[in-house]
Amino acid sequence: MSASLIDGKTISAKVNQETANMVEELKKQGIHPCLAVILIGEDPASQIYVRSKVARCAELGILSRKHVLPQDARPEDVFALIDSLNKDPEVHGILVQFPPPPQIDEKAVVDAILPEKDVDCFHPQNVGKLLLGETDGFSPCTPQGVMTLLEESNIDPSGKHAVVIGRSNIVGKPLAALLMQKAKGANATVTVVHSGSKNMEDFVRNADIVIAAIGKPEFVRGSMIKPGAVVVDVGINRVQDASSPKGYKVVGDVCFDEVKEVASAITPVPGGVGPMTIAMLMRNTVKAAKLQCVK
Ligand code: GUN
Repeated sequence: MSASLIDGKTISAKVNQETANMVEELKKQGIHPCLAVILIGEDPASQIYVRSKVARCAELGILSRKHVLPQDARPEDVFALIDSLNKDPEVHGILVQFPPPPQIDEKAVVDAILPEKDVDCFHPQNVGKLLLGETDGFSPCTPQGVMTLLEESNIDPSGKHAVVIGRSNIVGKPLAALLMQKAKGANATVTVVHSGSKNMEDFVRNADIVIAAIGKPEFVRGSMIKPGAVVVDVGINRVQDASSPKGYKVVGDVCFDEVKEVASAITPVPGGVGPMTIAMLMRNTVKAAKLQCVK
């Protein structure tokens, strides 16, 4: 292996320690940060994510309230719950785990959460602030997790060509906005490639920094990477694996074994971007509590 490993576990532990310290400070002022998490239905992956988020809250001294609604929950019940959490002064952050079941309109959910409590940074007001480079809103968890991984690994995107593979609202689009920001730790030349791109590989092969966020197992191969490039893998894909007791294994969007021989630095899956996403969620929850309670 020639690439160095960008260790999301170690870097997220550092961020989490800082967050725990901030929680301590707020508690001295009588402010106890609290995150409400809503899970609708029984999607196994969503159940695992929600469990991890609630557990991390407890570790860092953040209060959490978990609301589980059935797979056939009525939209009016979901929106009534969001409304009551919006109005509850003891709840500072609200997160609805996506994807919701089909009868629940994802966009309506995003719009219903008060922007001040939108710790995912999905609300149009917060997405607008992000695009404008305003820092008084929230930063989206997974994209900010990627930026922090780069920063903590002393990889400065300034002047580099960053290619983001994927244009989702949760990762690709906001990450492109963060990378191109005229700011320290950003300032990259950004290309976004996606399922409609012609000759995608030509762009990727030209990149100094590649960020894979397409949800296709091991899509990025060693032959697509410029020698010495930095590769960040946002993917979390379950693939069948008869040799595993669970019958599946988790792989990223990057073929790790091939790319590690070509890249200068690479994130593993698991243990790369994943723990950073939750660390940023915790940080946003504390920021929300501060903004709402410290006058
Ligand atoms: N589903 C997959 N990623 C996310 C995320 O970052 N936030 C929420 N709420 N749901 C998700």
